Amino acid sequence: MFESLDILPPDPLLGIAAACKADPNPKKVDLGVGVYKTEAGDTPILKSVQQAITQLTAEEKSKVYIAPQGNADFISGMQNLILGDLANTDRFVSIQAPGGTGSLRIGSEMIAKANPNATVWASDPTWANHVPLMKSAGLNLKNYPYYDTANNALKADEMLSTISKLGKDDIVLLHGCCHNPSGEDLTPELWSAVADLAVERGFTPFVDIAYQGFGKDLETDVAGVREIFAKVPEMMIASSCSKNFGLYRERTGMISFLSENAEKKEACRTNALSIARGIYSMPPSYGAALVGLILKDENLTKIWQEELAEMCSRMNTLRTLLIGKLQERGVEKDFSFIERQNGMFSFLGINKDQIDRLRSEYAIYMAGSSRINIAGISNNNVDYLADAIAAVL
Ligand SMILES: Cc1ncc(COP(=O)(O)O)c(C=O)c1O
Repeated sequence: MFESLDILPPDPLLGIAAACKADPNPKKVDLGVGVYKTEAGDTPILKSVQQAITQLTAEEKSKVYIAPQGNADFISGMQNLILGDLANTDRFVSIQAPGGTGSLRIGSEMIAKANPNATVWASDPTWANHVPLMKSAGLNLKNYPYYDTANNALKADEMLSTISKLGKDDIVLLHGCCHNPSGEDLTPELWSAVADLAVERGFTPFVDIAYQGFGKDLETDVAGVREIFAKVPEMMIASSCSKNFGLYRERTGMISFLSENAEKKEACRTNALSIARGIYSMPPSYGAALVGLILKDENLTKIWQEELAEMCSRMNTLRTLLIGKLQERGVEKDFSFIERQNGMFSFLGINKDQIDRLRSEYAIYMAGSSRINIAGISNNNVDYLADAIAAVL
């Protein structure tokens, strides 16, 4: 049977990570895969998570399955984190799922089940995995204009014009904050315009929020999601704890549904559970148990918030630092957009030749789109990086 299968090419980004790892150059800089790194280039377990691990190890007495819907403290804590008081409605329900990806997949299967004629509209560009993920669920996928790579700016008018023609068979996939790959987020006015269009035209917003707290702060980063939530009759939210809790390998996420009334909410809950049952049966416990403990305990929450604020501030400082270093070198190209953008990513906006030269001559690794992981920059490598960028420009 397997004779019919061909060997698939490796994921381009994982290939870049492997090449960087194998590179013996001591000056190498890894700006590829989207994992937060400290000044020392590590991704350590957060202190708040360490403390929750100690507590969980002492308290956990069994490894039997948890409830299919997930850990109750995790769900209420995450709902509150994303939506605050707005979460207190009987129209809203959440299911714990394996990571942001698992959450997006349950959401996609839900769309396919509820409306086989639906079209999902993703930003151009979007997170690379959105495409295979949605397609695997059999969904029809199209793009709305989002980011102008030539001018490093939002295509706001084109975006609004495209989605203003959509209707009830359409789902608009939005990045809650820290747009991946561009770092360019919707302004409050644009969030408001999208919410109004969703109400007027009847399309369903599907918000993917994987970086809450990485942009400005925990509250500001979800202002757009809340704006939509408060206005629309129906929406979906896929959330991830991989980045902001540093729980990447623990596959910790949640898919949420806002529906028109309590009865439809129960339909969403039972259908989502049925979809999950058919894919992985029961949710993984560990990461969600840790997040549940952190968000339930005031002291742990405070420690986590401080750690998150530190990660966020480091990335914003690095954005400013890199631009300053490039200006010091007399680089003419305007990189000021990097400072305005949010989260872990921005496009450098350089061409393929320049990306290749950075890699072959300077051992500086980034995605083929020129997307860089801001957290891969440090006080130690920023001068080297700026020298190299100035040289290839
Ligand atoms: C935009 C976006 N959504 C979702 C995810 C999924 O994260 P995970 O499945 O690791 O929780 C990521 C991860 O890189 C992402 O960038």
